[in-house]
Amino acid sequence: MSAFDLGPKLKRSCEDALHKAKMAWKGGDHVAAAGHFDAASKIMFKYAEYAGSRAQEYARKKKAIEYRDFARRLREIHDEESAGAKAHKLPAPPSADEDVDTRQTEEAGKDAEISSAVSSLVTTSPVTWDDIGGLVETKRDIKYTLGLSLATPPKGVKIAAFRNIMFFGPPGTGKTLMAAATSNSLKAGGEGNALFFNVKVSGVMSKYFGESSKIISEIYGTARDNSPSVVFLDEFESLTATRGADEQTGAERRILSTILSELDGLSEKGRGDIFVLTIAATNRPWEIDSAVLSRFEKQILIPLPDPVTREAILNIHLLKKGFELAGEIADLVEITDGFSGREIERLVKQATTTMIAELNDDLPDLVDKGLKEAKGYQVKIRALSVDDFRKAATGIAPVTSAEEMKRYLDWRQDE
Ligand SMILES: Nc1ncnc2c1ncn2[C@@H]1O[C@H](COP(=O)(O)OP(=O)(O)O)[C@@H](O)[C@H]1O
Ligand SMILES: [Mg+2]
Repeated sequence: MSAFDLGPKLKRSCEDALHKAKMAWKGGDHVAAAGHFDAASKIMFKYAEYAGSRAQEYARKKKAIEYRDFARRLREIHDEESAGAKAHKLPAPPSADEDVDTRQTEEAGKDAEISSAVSSLVTTSPVTWDDIGGLVETKRDIKYTLGLSLATPPKGVKIAAFRNIMFFGPPGTGKTLMAAATSNSLKAGGEGNALFFNVKVSGVMSKYFGESSKIISEIYGTARDNSPSVVFLDEFESLTATRGADEQTGAERRILSTILSELDGLSEKGRGDIFVLTIAATNRPWEIDSAVLSRFEKQILIPLPDPVTREAILNIHLLKKGFELAGEIADLVEITDGFSGREIERLVKQATTTMIAELNDDLPDLVDKGLKEAKGYQVKIRALSVDDFRKAATGIAPVTSAEEMKRYLDWRQDE
């Protein structure tokens, strides 16, 4: 545990918020109680990041959702009562104990499973903007959109920020990486915190097919309650693959209408204070339902890297990792023509591991002698030559051909 471990501090402020919530609840001030439960929920989400195990993280996120749902319920009751309904019998507030789950019916069990599936999607990533080579304009676009949504507009002025952005392009070009850096940039800490939902659509679809539309609603519900937040939908084409209306199953139709209303922000109408940014990524944009497609105000092509970008990517994966090149980087840029970022990374890995294996082939014998010997051994390396890369490149065949790249370019022109 480091000296900077926030865990215990978060736990205390969460308990504090819960205490205030319960006092307000007992005093009959439901609006104030809801505010404190919301605060407890936010802190609990943060606290979940410091969990010691996956199970504990789940339990904490589940608790956070329980507090949030209870706050929502209190506000509903308040609204109904102020609209003249007779006083409600109040549900009991959730307990502070993060590991207890008292709900028992099967339906509640299912809802809890969905809630915990959704809370497990809340992530942050260690990837920063500097880990992404090139794509300067795209990075700027995203930062601008985020900034605009967080900034304060002039009094009385309504600025319509972009809500839906789609990345499309060949596999391995940095789409997922871009979303990861976005999530990292959101964890500014404290009040400025924003939640990032990392949803691999194909996974959700295969695991929870019948419940997928419920999960999507739950994701956006949680995202709205924790505004500002970002929902990243990776492998987006699996969600709404184009199919004739008569071929669609009931579940597919439900998913389609759910995602359309979420992308339109129908549940946020009239609430200018809520901001949920959706970022979708796909390798196969042409498979996406056209109504869904039209909801994305920005459709950004992430192409195969040009020479300048390839040099930046080589820099990140080779030089920044401490290896040296005895030769011209321009030659590597040429060798990697037609490669995606992922293939460049693979090439560098191949070249470095081959070099290391050649220089250190006595390592197995050392391990035989004892682990102490191995620990005392200094791994030998040498500068890599352009030839090392030429050899490594023979084992790598780029997955995206020039014709396939053209398909992405043409598709954009069709739009
Ligand atoms: N622009 C880039 N800069 C640095 N590394 C990259 C870049 N593009 C791809 N990579 C490398 O390739 C891997 C796969 O990229 P990813 O973002 O998952 O591609 P996709 O576009 O398929 O989502 C990354 O983890 C990273 O190591
Ligand atoms: Mg990806």
